[in-house]
Amino acid sequence: MKILVINGPNLNMLGLRDKDQYGSFTLDDLNGIILNHFKDIEFDFFQSNHEGEIIDKLQTFSKYDGIIINPGAFTHYSYAIRDSIELISIDVIEVHISSVDSREEFRRKSVTAPVCTGKISGFKEYSYILGIEYLVRNL
Ligand code: DQA
Repeated sequence: MKILVINGPNLNMLGLRDKDQYGSFTLDDLNGIILNHFKDIEFDFFQSNHEGEIIDKLQTFSKYDGIIINPGAFTHYSYAIRDSIELISIDVIEVHISSVDSREEFRRKSVTAPVCTGKISGFKEYSYILGIEYLVRNL
């Protein structure tokens, strides 16, 4: 089983971002936590600050069994990423570290979640673990 984990803009800056919202772990820490938790699963970790690069990566979906994506701020307005997810035939789970529904109004809207299998938000690094757990149990 091979799972693609995509992190969008500014998630390479974890560790320096608002610790109340995002905790104090770095992106490398997060990827390490995932690897440690799911020792038998093969992962491809991808981070980009660029919408087009995220779309290019999503278009390689046929190499994977499932996708976890944290689109960062693109969540709230990228119809291009939404369209890319819409045609993907495998499960795509949207995850957020912070609780997007209890923050600013603009974060409550996700244009990408309606074309994902589901959305997990507010459980810090465990949002990723829970999403991957779903993929593992349903594949
Ligand atoms: C985020 C929430 C987004 O609103 C924000 O723009 C991010 C991170 C999260 O993981 O909580 O960059 O996706």
